[in-house]
Amino acid sequence: MVSFQTLDDLEDGQRVLARLDLNSPVEDGEVQDNRRFERHAETVRELADADHRVALMAHQGRPGRDTFVSLEQHADILADHAGVDVGFVADTFGDEALDAIEGLEAGDVLLLENTRMCDEELPEEEPEVKAETDFVQTLAPAFDAYVNDAYSAAHRSHASLVGFPLVMDAYAGRVMETEYEANTTIAEKEFDGRVTMVVGGTKATDVIDVMTALDEKVDDFLLGGIAGELFLRADGYAVGRDVGDMDLFDEQWEANQDKIESMLAEHRDQITLAVDLAYEDDEGDRAEVAVEDIEEKDTGYLDVGSETVMTYSPIIRDSEAVFVKGALGMFEDERFSVGTVGALEAIAETDCFSVVGGGDTSRAIEMYGMSEAEFDHVSIAGGAYIRALTGESLVGVDVLLQD
Ligand code: 3PG
Repeated sequence: MVSFQTLDDLEDGQRVLARLDLNSPVEDGEVQDNRRFERHAETVRELADADHRVALMAHQGRPGRDTFVSLEQHADILADHAGVDVGFVADTFGDEALDAIEGLEAGDVLLLENTRMCDEELPEEEPEVKAETDFVQTLAPAFDAYVNDAYSAAHRSHASLVGFPLVMDAYAGRVMETEYEANTTIAEKEFDGRVTMVVGGTKATDVIDVMTALDEKVDDFLLGGIAGELFLRADGYAVGRDVGDMDLFDEQWEANQDKIESMLAEHRDQITLAVDLAYEDDEGDRAEVAVEDIEEKDTGYLDVGSETVMTYSPIIRDSEAVFVKGALGMFEDERFSVGTVGALEAIAETDCFSVVGGGDTSRAIEMYGMSEAEFDHVSIAGGAYIRALTGESLVGVDVLLQD
């Protein structure tokens, strides 16, 4: 049987290097608190309570994106949730970081700078190659053990996720353990009735991948978010394009147009698209427009419309299982929460097996007064949760598992 070493197997008082996934929404430069902090705080508190000297690694955004920022704010948010001080050093594996690591006392916690600021972190390469990087070779000797708690990033073959387990004693953190167990069990479940997937969010490739991999398991895909607009564009509507300083659509369209068009052509009967969209009018209020009345896109669409929610809700209510991956709109702004909240409420009111995944989506549950207990599993993972559902293994998990 394959299994992890977990924190139960780790002796107290070690020098521990732990990888978390604190990748978060960033609005106007401000990092937004979300479920990831709360969940990882459990692992961090447990490590500090066991008198380990703890250095934490995490990433935020990707180079070139607005969300690619320092982890300084993350340290404070994490400290609030964990109830322990979390120091921060603006360096990942240089002298400044090594000095700060050297200075750790038992029970101290230090967050290192965004791993994606290191050139060797991002290129997707085999774990054996990552294990040889300066990043891994410099940090590893400063620790006795490596803990990976970043299940939600485990689909990425990045140095901080796959390199260390090859050269160090490696353990799964509490989030890694619970997410792995839940998502693996869910992936093996069979359903007799209708299986529906609500798919939104900003990453078109994730959506296409999941639809490709799950087209035999899922009866209905209900689309929204950026991906939903791109599918509407493929269906001939004048949406799914960048306007103003927006750069969410055209690049993704160019990269995925063929796949989106053929997915739509081959699975038309399984795909339901929005019939109306919401935007901010000149008075700053929510306004809605039927997609067939849009002649030219001249504004950003921030949510699916109310008619769409009325189309999606009965499909959800008639389902034996509903999976959610990504939000249907920009729910952080209450005016544009109608699609996401409407879908989640329909799920909560239905006696179905339900899983909500997607880094940000789980945040909507709390923001709008619902309880996680109304869903069978709420995952803080997005891309990794989807890959697990398709039965695909996760490289960051594979390197932790032992025979
Ligand atoms: C996520 O937020 O889903 C993970 O942290 C992975 O982030 P990425 O898609 O930028 O690699």
